[in-house]
Amino acid sequence: MQKNLGSTIMTKQESTRSIPSFKLYFPQEDITQFQNYSADILESGMLTLGKYTRQFEEQCSKILGTPHSIAVNSGTSAIEIALRSLRIADGEIVVPTNSFGATAAAPILSGNKVRFADIEERTLCASRSTIEEQLTRTTKAVVLVHIAGIISPEVDQIRILCEEKGISLIEDAAHAFGSRFQGKSAGNFGVAGCFSFYPTKVVSAGEGGLVVTSQAELDRNARVLRDQGKESFNSNIIVDLGYNWRMSEFNAAAGLIASKRINEIVEKRNHIASIYNEILRKSNLVSVVETPDGCLNNYYKYVILLASGINRDEFKMAMKSQKSIACSGEVYTPPLHLEPIFMKLLGTKRGDYPIAEDVCQRMVCLPMYQEIDDDAAGYVAASAQEVAESLH
Ligand SMILES: Cc1ncc(COP(=O)(O)O)c(C=O)c1O
Repeated sequence: MQKNLGSTIMTKQESTRSIPSFKLYFPQEDITQFQNYSADILESGMLTLGKYTRQFEEQCSKILGTPHSIAVNSGTSAIEIALRSLRIADGEIVVPTNSFGATAAAPILSGNKVRFADIEERTLCASRSTIEEQLTRTTKAVVLVHIAGIISPEVDQIRILCEEKGISLIEDAAHAFGSRFQGKSAGNFGVAGCFSFYPTKVVSAGEGGLVVTSQAELDRNARVLRDQGKESFNSNIIVDLGYNWRMSEFNAAAGLIASKRINEIVEKRNHIASIYNEILRKSNLVSVVETPDGCLNNYYKYVILLASGINRDEFKMAMKSQKSIACSGEVYTPPLHLEPIFMKLLGTKRGDYPIAEDVCQRMVCLPMYQEIDDDAAGYVAASAQEVAESLH
């Protein structure tokens, strides 16, 4: 296998194209289908929360194996809706510090305080112990992030911890549509799972989000909240303080088309990752963040950690200027406790979460998208090793 890979590694000259960090995947057949669906939507006059939203919800329930799926307009609103549907307010919510701002903003916007948890280097996720050390008498929930598509092998222990403490486990599965652990899809480990269909995600609807749950009451509350607090779509009776968190039919149609390819997408991303792994596992200058045993990773991001002493900015610049390879955004730099707004609101500071601080500054995400062929994957991995050597 390695022999074959060696012979397929391209030089920059051989690689006529540059390799972007990310490319949206809508093949021509899907574009045509979207045009047809769009015409149907316009002709029907039903532009929001219509039959495409219902079909998208049903398809997501089938893919994810969840009894209830509620489509909304973003991953951010999915988290806020989950918390508000569970009536979680005036409490503390534990959130990993290496996440997107929305993971912490949504709990605060729903009337709670946030406490960050550190992460483990091997999974990039919060662990049972990093969560447990942040629990207080006022903790009401944990928002667990399956960062980069990785589901922590401690997910069941984290669920048990939450059950023992009588607090809710909510999954921020924005990165993890199609990831599984021991056969169970992301979104099914807690009381609610929240997904994002933002353009960079493994499945995109343009914009959009999804709340999944097995609880009928949460499903009911979420549907009320997403549509201005009305008791139902066709009613004008307002029973809660909701918002316009609706999914439009166009986004639902795009999500319906994109999500039907989830198996093929995850398979291809795992194939690209296997080529990266084979080359980079031999390196002592970069370490691969390995997918834990039992986890099917959707490889939203392929993450490597640079050896200390290699400057990440210089590494990314050299990949771009010498190899024409763009690395994507990290997950995340800086960690949230060092973002100005959270330092101001929560009083967090450098040194508070040392593992995340170290890992987040050594992390690089290599290009990952459907159209990377074997030659390009070999070229990317070999280039990462060469650039790391040149900077060591
Ligand atoms: C971990 C995480 N949570 C939440 C979100 C919010 O999703 P959206 O952008 O759809 O609101 C994102 C989006 O990128 C994310 O990466």
